[in-house]
Amino acid sequence: MQLTVNERLHRVAAPQGTLLDLLRDDLALTGTKLVCDRGECGACTVLLDGRTAYACLTLAAACDGATITTVEGLGAPDGSLNDLQQAFITYDAAQCGFCTPGQLMAAHDLLARQPAPSEPEIVAAMSGNLCRCGTYPKIVRAIQAVAAARRHASAADAAPGVPRGA
Ligand code: FES
Ligand code: FES
Repeated sequence: MQLTVNERLHRVAAPQGTLLDLLRDDLALTGTKLVCDRGECGACTVLLDGRTAYACLTLAAACDGATITTVEGLGAPDGSLNDLQQAFITYDAAQCGFCTPGQLMAAHDLLARQPAPSEPEIVAAMSGNLCRCGTYPKIVRAIQAVAAARRHASAADAAPGVPRGA
């Protein structure tokens, strides 16, 4: 079977386990974490064909032809962080960091679907991702900051230009 992970095509022979096994053990993409292994914590969250999925509950064999994005695919190819990753640092939204890859993928999905989420919408959208360190308020603040910055940037892009010499 073949699947595209972070814009790179991979061919793999009849995988037996979960998508999480495939990502971590076969493709060495260890950013996606294994914690509960039963669909409760969200640490293994990836994008599967554009929507969030728990990789620990997804059979690898069912991903033939799929497009996957993991936390390694959020930033630039040179390793620089995207705005959401940077905001998690700025707002101190990661302590041990074990839940952070899954949180980032859920937040990425939320902002792709809803560029201006209210606080209750953020809390609801992130409810499938648990954090034992209790960083929830900081995660909400990081997401709000990125949403506001992206809206500000797109409003500036859409503003009519001032002619030179005016
Ligand atoms: Fe998949 Fe917890 S490891 S939901
Ligand atoms: Fe430690 Fe979330 S930062 S579990």
